[in-house]
Amino acid sequence: MVTQAIIPLAGLGTRLLPLSSVIPKELLPINGKPNLEYIMDECVQAGIKEFILVVPKNRPSIKKYFFNDNFYKKIIKKKKNDKRLKEVFKRIKKFQKMIKFVYQNKPEGTGHAVLQCQKYLKGTHFLMLLADDLIVKKNCSKEMISLHKKTKGSVIATRKVERKTLSRWGILGFKNKTKNSFLINQVIEKPKLSEAPSNYAIIGRYILPKKILSVLKNQSRGKGGEIHITDAIKTLVQRNEKFYGNIFQGKYIDCGTLDGFVKSGLTISKYL
Ligand code: G1P
Repeated sequence: MVTQAIIPLAGLGTRLLPLSSVIPKELLPINGKPNLEYIMDECVQAGIKEFILVVPKNRPSIKKYFFNDNFYKKIIKKKKNDKRLKEVFKRIKKFQKMIKFVYQNKPEGTGHAVLQCQKYLKGTHFLMLLADDLIVKKNCSKEMISLHKKTKGSVIATRKVERKTLSRWGILGFKNKTKNSFLINQVIEKPKLSEAPSNYAIIGRYILPKKILSVLKNQSRGKGGEIHITDAIKTLVQRNEKFYGNIFQGKYIDCGTLDGFVKSGLTISKYL
């Protein structure tokens, strides 16, 4: 059973400056709710029971967003008849019991973020989500968990992308493709156009085996001096570990760029 979700939140958010210089990009509101909460709601609906949020120590606002009871209690006391206030507090409180924080003080990569979570990981597999990648209309994590249940393998969310953008993504090579999935036999992070094995890109949802930790521990730093999860996945695929691509049904919104973020409100409002 997949019941734990890791969400790395230590990125600098450079593409969303100047907004992200004061508010962590994952807390920027999209139709009144931060994209982090959209992602956590997706997880809860898919059966996730525990979140491991990977944050830098010097960025306390994410912790404060979820753990600020005294603040809420004070205003609720003052505004006793404000129903919305009580509902908001309830919404936030529901997450408190589910969250653990671990620290990554510099953006050292998604693989490094996963390594920091080691002491909390329990089952054979866990979910990891990148908060920049919103998927609405159909629950992608739910689809992935059912593919994992069926195959017992690891699962990566994927979609076809435009050829000219291939070098912006992790790209998958595959065999045995059906309408909604395939078996992954190659993984390349941000390939040159000529080296890309397909047009199917990794989107930020992964069901990973706990054994990826031992690969990460021995992995040397990759592009940009970071420890990338994609490199560890590549090692496991080369060792014939079963990784499946889940061609998800939902609508993808790239919240990591200013353009994507600006459009996200409008796109989301169509599906709420
Ligand atoms: C990361 C991953 C990449 C994936 C992308 C999806 O890249 O490394 O494999 O395709 O997320 O958003 P980043 O967006 O951090 O450059």
